[in-house]
Amino acid sequence: MQVSIFGTGYVGLVTGTCLAEVGHDVVCIDVDAAKVEGLNNGVIPIYEPGLTPMVKANHAEGRLRFTTDAAMGIAHGEVVFIAVGTPPDEDGSADLQYVLAVAKTIGRNLQRPTVVVDKSTVPVGTADKVRAAIAAELAARGAEVSFDVVSNPEFLKEGAAVEDCMRPDRIVIGADGAHAAEKLKRLYAPFNRNHDRFVVMDVRSAELTKYAANAMLATKISFMNEIANIAEQVGADVENVRKGIGSDPRIGWHFIYPGAGYGGSCFPKDVQALAKTAQQHGVQPRLLDAVEAVNEAQKAHLFELAARHYGGEAKLRGKTFAVWGLAFKPNTDDMREASSRRLLQQLWDAGAKVRVYDPEAMDETRRIFGERDDLAFCDGAAATLDGADALFVVTEWKQFRSPDFARLKATLGDAVVFDGRNMYEPADVEAAGLAYYGIGRGRSL
Ligand code: UGA
Repeated sequence: MQVSIFGTGYVGLVTGTCLAEVGHDVVCIDVDAAKVEGLNNGVIPIYEPGLTPMVKANHAEGRLRFTTDAAMGIAHGEVVFIAVGTPPDEDGSADLQYVLAVAKTIGRNLQRPTVVVDKSTVPVGTADKVRAAIAAELAARGAEVSFDVVSNPEFLKEGAAVEDCMRPDRIVIGADGAHAAEKLKRLYAPFNRNHDRFVVMDVRSAELTKYAANAMLATKISFMNEIANIAEQVGADVENVRKGIGSDPRIGWHFIYPGAGYGGSCFPKDVQALAKTAQQHGVQPRLLDAVEAVNEAQKAHLFELAARHYGGEAKLRGKTFAVWGLAFKPNTDDMREASSRRLLQQLWDAGAKVRVYDPEAMDETRRIFGERDDLAFCDGAAATLDGADALFVVTEWKQFRSPDFARLKATLGDAVVFDGRNMYEPADVEAAGLAYYGIGRGRSL
């Protein structure tokens, strides 16, 4: 099938590549000429396991092309995806300017019946706006071309995006007509093996499904972080509590890991946007507001543990801290809304210095914070320890799993570890003579 995709960000690039991988003829369109040129030369702008070789192979075989030429892209696609960004507006609602700009471009250039697919995470009602924008442009040029607008939300996770896209657990298709739904079913047929993954519904329900999924996951995390804070105060260990509840299939093992708060480009933005949608429609989003508030507080928790350990924030002045992990989660270089950003800022505000390492996010950290005297970029985890007083672990990269605690004890001036992802057993760390603070591990108080 001939497919066009507007936007070569995470969702657009991964979707386009996976559709090409199963044999579709894909053209990706982006307004960023440098990015398009890079992609045509095998430069992949994001770090995503498995993506680079797949882009290169499909590009070499001519099934995956990149262009800035919107008219060409629209002429190519019998299915045209909109996968551009929906950043948060100042008030937290999703900013639809990029989505609607693409819709207008489609309207200006549409020549034959086409299925337009909203892949970006967009508030309920956006498909109607997209439809209206396309129709207005068609009317303006006196053209009569039939088209459908379908909502097809994306559920891929950063760091596992290719895998999620190739083996989706469900394919949600929100369509108001049978023809468009059938077309998407044909497009996705190669991904629908062994059992039926299609969930076909109306457009508005599909739009809401995406937000409901992310908000539910964010709720699980904030819930566990709140339990962790209680555990910390009552002298319980949240890791035991987690194991004690996860075996109940109604609760499940996934997304009940307490930590330094959730980040990334999705949960924070989507929880806020859904809350905004609720308000706009007269529903008070009590739970969503709480999920967000708990997370904001949680991002400050590591710093609070340190302030507590040292006997007040003022005592952090002049200290040097090693920081392991900067990305919002492992296997990505993405720093959007990362908990590390809050921690670094708090440490700097308190007059401390940091020595940082992340396996992938060093360039991104440099881009965000630039060069500064109180920020040292280190070549590896071990190098952060030189001259450091204490260690913070913020992202649970595999390579941080089994450090040499004796070496940490020998190197860290104040012999203390603040573990923001509960990577270590308190007893193991303490046996080496270090003080240990995790999240919700009351016994370490
Ligand atoms: C999330 C969803 O998991 C995807 O299903 C969805 O498609 C995507 O958003 C999206 O809307 O595009 P992603 O943001 O890539 O994916 O990352 P997650 O793996 O969900 O992690 C989000 C954050 O939650 C991370 O900061 C992670 O550290 C944190 N987290 C996750 C916890 O603190 N505890 C947990 O138990 C799980």
